[in-house]
This record gives sequence, C-alpha cells and structure tokens, in this order.
Amino acid sequence: MRGVNLTVNAGQKLGIAGESGCGKSTLALALLRLLPAGTRVTGEILLDGEDVLTMKWGRVRAVRWAGASIVFQGAMHSLNAVHRVGEQIAEPILLHRKATPTGARKKTGELLEQVGLPAARASAYPHELSGGQRQRVMIAMALACDPRLVIADEPTTALDVMIQAQILRLIQQLVSEQELGLMMISHDLAVLSDTCDRLAVMYAGRVVEEGPARQVYEDARHPYGQALSAAFPRIGDAGSRFAPRGLPGDPPDPAVLPSGCTFHPRCAVALDSCAAEDQALRSAEEDRRAACVHVGPVAVADEARSTP
Ligand SMILES: Nc1ncnc2c1ncn2[C@@H]1O[C@H](COP(=O)(O)OP(=O)(O)OP(=O)(O)O)[C@@H](O)[C@H]1O
Ligand code: SF4
Ligand SMILES: [Mg+2]
Repeated sequence: MRGVNLTVNAGQKLGIAGESGCGKSTLALALLRLLPAGTRVTGEILLDGEDVLTMKWGRVRAVRWAGASIVFQGAMHSLNAVHRVGEQIAEPILLHRKATPTGARKKTGELLEQVGLPAARASAYPHELSGGQRQRVMIAMALACDPRLVIADEPTTALDVMIQAQILRLIQQLVSEQELGLMMISHDLAVLSDTCDRLAVMYAGRVVEEGPARQVYEDARHPYGQALSAAFPRIGDAGSRFAPRGLPGDPPDPAVLPSGCTFHPRCAVALDSCAAEDQALRSAEEDRRAACVHVGPVAVADEARSTP
C-alpha cells in the first residue's frame, strides 16, 4: 500500500471500497499493528493524536479494544467454539476495564441488548446462534470497552439482506449515539453510500478517490470509481439489470504493479502519458479528491463517464 491519507472524526462513518485484493483489510490491520511480523509500515497512524506506530507494546495492547476495536472479515466464524459467547464478550472487559466478574457479566448483558439480543443469550455457545446473531455478538465485543474508533471489515457480507439491513441500522445508531468513529470496509458501494458519510475508493493499494459517500457513488470522478459504481445494477433501471457493466481485467499483483497510473491497463479513458506518469490524489472539487489526469483544474470526468 502507498500514500494512504484518511481521517475519521468522532461520530463520522468512513467507508472503504474497492475490488478484492486492493488492500482494504491490510489497511484495517495496519491501523492496530496487526500485520504479520516483518511487515514494514511507515508514516503516522494517529489515534486521538497519539501515533500507534511509535507506541510501546504495552500501550498498543491497551489501545486495542479500549481505544480502537476491529470486527474482522468473516468475524462470525472466529468466535471460540468451546466458550459461551458471554464469556468471550466479558474477557476484554475484565482485562481492559479491570471490572469484577459481576460487573463484566452485567456489561455483557447490556451490550447484547444494545445489539438486539436478549441478555440471556450470553450463555449460548456460538453454534447455538444464527449467523446474524453471531455477527451481532462480534459487534457487541467490538463495543465492549467503549472504543473511540470501530473498524468493521465486511461486517455484513455473509448475511441475508434483512439481517444486513438490521445490522447496518444498528451500527449507524451506535455511531451517532456514542459519538464513535467508524471505518467500514466493503466492496458493496451501494451499502457504503447508504451507511457512510465519506467514502474512499482503493485500487492496487492506493486511495484513488475520496469524498462525500453519496457523491462518490453517484458521480465518481475517478474512472475506477465510475466503473465500480456502474457495476452495481440500479433498482428501476432495466438497462443496468439486464446488461450489468463490469470492469474487464483484474487488479494487478501488488508485487508487480504496472508503471505510471496503476489503473492504466484497464482504463477506458487512459492517455498515452498514463503508462508513464503516476497521478497523486488531488482536489477534484471542494471536499473531494481523486487521482486521475482528467481530474483537476481541467476536469473532463464527463468524458470518462460517457465511455461504456
Ligand atoms: N500476509 C500477507 N502476506 C503477503 N501478501 C498478503 C498478505 N495478506 C494480504 N496480502 C496481499 O495483499 C493484497 C491485499 O489484500 P487484502 O486482504 O488487504 O485485500 P482486500 O482489499 O481486503 O480484499 P477482499 O475484498 O478480498 O477482502 C492481496 O494481493 C493479498 O494477496
Ligand atoms: S490517470 Fe490515466 S489511466 Fe489513470 S485513471 Fe486517469 S485516465 Fe485512467
Ligand atoms: Mg479483505
């Protein structure tokens, strides 16, 4: 990954979108120093002004859960099968909040109710819960120590649309009630544009577009953002339903990136210069940024949009 520069304020929801393999989960793991040993991370990761990258390990352990928590991709499968879910939610409360066992049990019950499960379900084993209920347990766990930032990596991908809608509503409600910052990762642009305030689109390990979520979804400035958005069929638009517009080709191998703008081999509006010149994120208009030669003072994004 290169040159990622993003901010999430308290009470704000930032969505991260992009095709499989573009680096979304890597970004999430980097934020809490969860990448495998030997990974090199440079720059700054500021959590309330404190740089996670230079923290001592003791401080990193304290910040995980209590400062920022993460709902991992496929999290509902990562609960421990031989422990009751209540014990698993209580564990970080006992460790980080130094709560008494009675206090931790009470807080666990409250958290379960907050995510729409009866407190009594604390005594269930993971296999006794449905997928959606397990996902709620994971969200309850992420909220257990009242973190300032919650990172949710594909929190609803494995769920049916009804449960997905419930979980998304719940997340939105918790963010606004508790003034959390939320970073939500998904390749579903439509979900992100409905749920999030801002949206960042990643390609080949870089943010190529960022701005207000609905604007980025409905009127992307970067050709990749436009292609990603066009790939989603719109309700009521028969054209998109019967002939969905995909994006030919595959994202590049991060170890062998194309020269210049890494999107150029797949870009329908590439110029000759794109194979040689990389483009930095630049102001697309007020409050929006995109990394494309067509964006900027001489914006010709309309030309790109009209290309099939
Ligand atoms: N531990 C690792 N060692 C080496 N390469 C890795 C490792 N983890 C991920 N990668 C590579 O980094 C790239 C980004 O992976 P990442 O998991 O961040 O993608 P993603 O955007 O989350 O994709 P998805 O939507 O499929 O979850 C991929 O090319 C992947 O193969
Ligand atoms: S810089 Fe060139 S190749 Fe890259 S997205 Fe813009 S037009 Fe396409
Ligand atoms: Mg991922």
